[in-house]
Amino acid sequence: MTASLAQLDLDHLFHPATDLRGHRQAGPQIWERGEGVYVFDSEGKQYLEGMAGLWCTALGYGEQALVDAAAEQMSKFCYGPLFAGKSNEPSIRLAAKLAEWVPIADARFLFGCSGSDANDAQVKLIRYYYNAIGKPEKKKILSRGNAYHGITLATAALTGLPAFHRHFDLPGDDVIHLTSPHYYRQSKPGESEADFVERLAKELESVIEREGAGTIGAMIAEPLMGAGGVIPPPAGYWDRIQPILAANDILLIDDEVVCGFGRTGQPFGCQTWNIEPATMTMAKALSSAYLPISAVAVPGFMYEAIEEAAGGVGLFAHGLTYAGHPVAAAVAVRNLELMEERGIMDHAARMGELLQAGLAPLADHPLVGNLRGIGLIAGLELVADKDSRELFPAQNKTAFKVAAACLAEGLVVRALPGDVIAVCPPLIINPDQINELVEKLGRGLDRATAA
Ligand SMILES: Cc1ncc(COP(=O)(O)O)c(C=O)c1O
Repeated sequence: MTASLAQLDLDHLFHPATDLRGHRQAGPQIWERGEGVYVFDSEGKQYLEGMAGLWCTALGYGEQALVDAAAEQMSKFCYGPLFAGKSNEPSIRLAAKLAEWVPIADARFLFGCSGSDANDAQVKLIRYYYNAIGKPEKKKILSRGNAYHGITLATAALTGLPAFHRHFDLPGDDVIHLTSPHYYRQSKPGESEADFVERLAKELESVIEREGAGTIGAMIAEPLMGAGGVIPPPAGYWDRIQPILAANDILLIDDEVVCGFGRTGQPFGCQTWNIEPATMTMAKALSSAYLPISAVAVPGFMYEAIEEAAGGVGLFAHGLTYAGHPVAAAVAVRNLELMEERGIMDHAARMGELLQAGLAPLADHPLVGNLRGIGLIAGLELVADKDSRELFPAQNKTAFKVAAACLAEGLVVRALPGDVIAVCPPLIINPDQINELVEKLGRGLDRATAA
């Protein structure tokens, strides 16, 4: 059965974010089921899901309460649009519940199906808003190297990872990438963290001066960068960056797709680093990935300006067929209720401390140049030489080999560009499972070193 499925995969599936040629040789790994923090492949082998899928299965696998919420809503009312003022109870309840969660005044929520379409909507909303308030020049968006904001034309242009740009002929004249706040990789020899932050702040100021504040509408940022290498901001970064944005009337789009809902030890990453966003993007853990759903939160002042401008058009002419899909919304509502009822934010914060403490000794592993993280997310940057921080040659695919070695040990981790191993388990992980994760990761690193 596995062999015939694998052949069908090789014949017919187009895999996203995959080394397509390598896939022809290696073939697929086929997952069959999940339970709690564990997943099982088609041969029945059990693995600890140390990546929560793609940073998303917050409440773990097989959560019956979410299955029930979906089944109930699906039999009651499987679909209805939000177009033309039509509505449905799960979407209304989800918007109202999110308003209790997000630190945004008079927030309104625009629903979508993925982080990418939500960030794409963020770009459109920034344009709409500045057109609405009579500042049509204020359209450029600042992003950063190593950022990951999605893969639509607009959001791939915001993403600061070269592989996501090559061959795609993206638009993006209106996107400016700042230096990644990656102290370990981007700091100069001998530069202190404080000096590094100061250099990045000066860079931001000089970019604003060069372009003109009147041409820059927003900066988009993940509080902690995920897919770009698990990069927490250096100390003092946001305290220094935010006032510069505020002084220049540049709105901060907070991409909480990975950080949101407890990942960094607070409900949102913006709360971990005292960031005051103008707007927010949420997806992934919003439904613990049981169904695809995303949300953009906009503040009241933006909504009112957009409402006014849309009046002149006759309608706000934007929206997805599946925006506010009642089944996905019902699952998201139940997911947030479960997080509240079970104290998942506090649990995640406590488990986060255990995870970081458990991983700490791995910083001394010969392969690990830099260990970083906070809460239930961590990255291990692999280097050929700890002193010079020299990377292994890219063709070595070192991180992929380590991820494969971890898999052989029964642990799922992810290899990211720049030879970083990412760890991001479901928020429901318990102390014994954290020990298991750390042990298997250590054995995976040893196994890869030996090979
Ligand atoms: C921070 C961030 N923003 C946006 C996205 C895009 O989300 P999606 O893959 O659901 O389109 C991701 C996906 O990993 C992400 O990590």
